[in-house]
Amino acid sequence: MKVGVARERIDGERRVAATPETVGQLEALGLDVVIESGAGVAAGNADAAYREAGAVVVPRLELGDLDVLLHVRPLSPDQVSHLNRGAVTVGFGSPATELATVTALAEAGITSFALELVPRISRAQSMDALTSQALVAGYRSVLEAATRFPRFLPLYMTAAGTIPPARVLVLGAGVAGLQAIGTAKRLGARVSANDVRPASADEVTSMGGTFINLDLEAAEGAGGYARELGEDRAARQRQLLTPHVAAADILITTAAIPGRRAPLLVTTDMVARMRAGSVVVDLAAESGGNIEGVIAGSDLAIPTHAGDGTVTLVGMKDAASALPTDASRLYAKNVANLLALMVTDGQVSPDFSDDVIAGACLTHDGQVRHAPTADALKGQR
Ligand code: NAI
Repeated sequence: MKVGVARERIDGERRVAATPETVGQLEALGLDVVIESGAGVAAGNADAAYREAGAVVVPRLELGDLDVLLHVRPLSPDQVSHLNRGAVTVGFGSPATELATVTALAEAGITSFALELVPRISRAQSMDALTSQALVAGYRSVLEAATRFPRFLPLYMTAAGTIPPARVLVLGAGVAGLQAIGTAKRLGARVSANDVRPASADEVTSMGGTFINLDLEAAEGAGGYARELGEDRAARQRQLLTPHVAAADILITTAAIPGRRAPLLVTTDMVARMRAGSVVVDLAAESGGNIEGVIAGSDLAIPTHAGDGTVTLVGMKDAASALPTDASRLYAKNVANLLALMVTDGQVSPDFSDDVIAGACLTHDGQVRHAPTADALKGQR
């Protein structure tokens, strides 16, 4: 069966859905891999490396020739229209926002798997691209802050004087937040964090951070994810966070609720109470933002209330794509491991009695199998 990997078409996307290593893995399963020339260049994988691993490199990928298409970003309805009925696709699907593509996939009879839907159970950890890409994004968020911050992060005691460590506050201590805590700690900062899930307190401590207990009722929902706070409690959280935000030199926000707009944790007024030169990095900027007024892909200068300068507010965009080599290495493994689960005797034949396969399937046989997405589509009609 022919498995294709296209060059990603979205501006700023530098990742690729297969690496020479995963090409080897797929070829060993009896699949024939075809790569569009240049698909891996931005991620450090030249065409020659794919050829060496056994892939065929073509100048332009004909989607109609493929049995399986591997991708990073959600496909466009136009790409879907070139696929054969019965073809299989594996990649991010963003089902909550890409409803036009979901409709196109269902109508075209494509069996599509969205990595966001892979169940977060132990057996599927090696296929969990939300985790692998959040790890990259969390690490990157600290570097983005550090390069804009006009001071050191670590403590320095020198003959010319003592420089105190920077204070980093992380809001949202899921996968990305924990990586941000670990990275900021390694850079020598003093790190504290808050999350609405009670389980996160121990995780923050184990990464070397101090957990800030806000004395708010816990908000843990299904599957270990956070629940959305009602407006009263959200306002109370912002009020309780205000002094912690003001005391921070660097604030990194990563809070998210699956399938929802990111919660608003910090107002412009709270940012303006920080010291001049402080930096705020909002990793949730692309899904609505945790910080009031944030713009994904832009730096904003927020004047301080003290009138002595500005705070830099960074709206992170394409965070994982900013480290394309390692982000692709992990992502391609997630994709290949999910596909491998469906291969028997060199044929891709998904077994829907497997929870991981059934859970990750977005469309099959003309139907939208992911119930919340099917409901969202019904709501549109
Ligand atoms: P996410 O990206 O959906 O959200 C990020 C963080 O924001 C979460 O920790 C969430 O609790 C927090 N948050 C939401 N609203 C907030 C608010 N108002 N204030 C402060 N924080 C807020 O979460 P992610 O990183 O995908 O992880 C979610 C859960 O899934 C965690 O419990 C994590 O341990 C678990 N998980 C399990 C895995 C597995 O078993 N294979 C793999 C990865 C994560």
